[in-house]
Amino acid sequence: MTSFFPVSSKSFSAKANLLLQDVSNKFNIKNCTFGARDDAARTYGSSGDRFFAAIWIIMYTNKCLMDQESLTQEKHLNDFPFRLNKELRCALHQGRDPKVRDIFLKAGRMINKALEIMKPKLYPTLYRGVKKFLFADEAYFIESGFFSATEDCDVALSFAEGQILLVVESMHGVKINDVVRPMYPREEEVLGLHGSTFKIIKTVDDPDEIRQAYPTNTPSKVIHVKQVKSWRNYLLVKKYRGWKQSAMTETKSFCNPY
Ligand SMILES: NC(=O)c1ccc[n+]([C@@H]2O[C@H](COP(=O)([O-])OP(=O)(O)OC[C@H]3O[C@@H](n4cnc5c(N)ncnc54)[C@H](O)[C@@H]3O)[C@@H](O)[C@H]2O)c1
Repeated sequence: MTSFFPVSSKSFSAKANLLLQDVSNKFNIKNCTFGARDDAARTYGSSGDRFFAAIWIIMYTNKCLMDQESLTQEKHLNDFPFRLNKELRCALHQGRDPKVRDIFLKAGRMINKALEIMKPKLYPTLYRGVKKFLFADEAYFIESGFFSATEDCDVALSFAEGQILLVVESMHGVKINDVVRPMYPREEEVLGLHGSTFKIIKTVDDPDEIRQAYPTNTPSKVIHVKQVKSWRNYLLVKKYRGWKQSAMTETKSFCNPY
């Protein structure tokens, strides 16, 4: 089989290139992989680990519609990055199509490696806005998908749409605009590795206190969290096995294929 891009060995580049071919063929998204390649080439030339790392990070960041016929379930959920996060979050659900899930699990591992190649920095304060948060009552949680956060609180508040603002008091991540030419410069997005563990530090749900701190786009809840070093993940998950149980019912309905 001919390769899309020149590679020399079974390095990260070689593996990244092979998986790009796989997703390209399986989901019929050659336009996206070639577009990502062109974007990455503007900054990184057209070979080497950083070039392929940038391609995979762009694959997470850009809208990319997959051929609906390549999906056996949830055909309408066919934007590559959104589907990637869903498959990562639902990887343990028994009803998912294993062939689709497994290629996304590979893509998730590849993007994690790509982020490591771009050398994540420690950010002291980031924000993330979500409409739903399953772990509000837990001490710790693991984000199985990629953790998109921003340095700009207003951006996070707009994503929260009046629901939940996560204030991230320290997290390692890669600033997307440092990697590739600014696509959404105002988002100031910092991307954390998938599978990161967080400790919940405190929750604020007093409406007056929240309104005073966030007078526009006021969220209903503010949850302060902090990333925990990954080598502690295993011990924490063992200790706080309960988080999984309590989130299970809601995750199950979110992950039931339809
Ligand atoms: N959210 C932000 O604050 C933020 C910040 C910067 C950039 N972005 C950009 O916006 C795009 C979308 O980001 P996002 O954070 O909304 O995407 P996402 O896939 O992380 O989350 C999408 C929505 O799904 C919900 N969700 C997540 N896990 C769930 C689960 N297990 N069960 C039920 N619901 C669940 C979340 O509440 C969230 O509102 C990303 O591509 C990113 O580039 C977002």
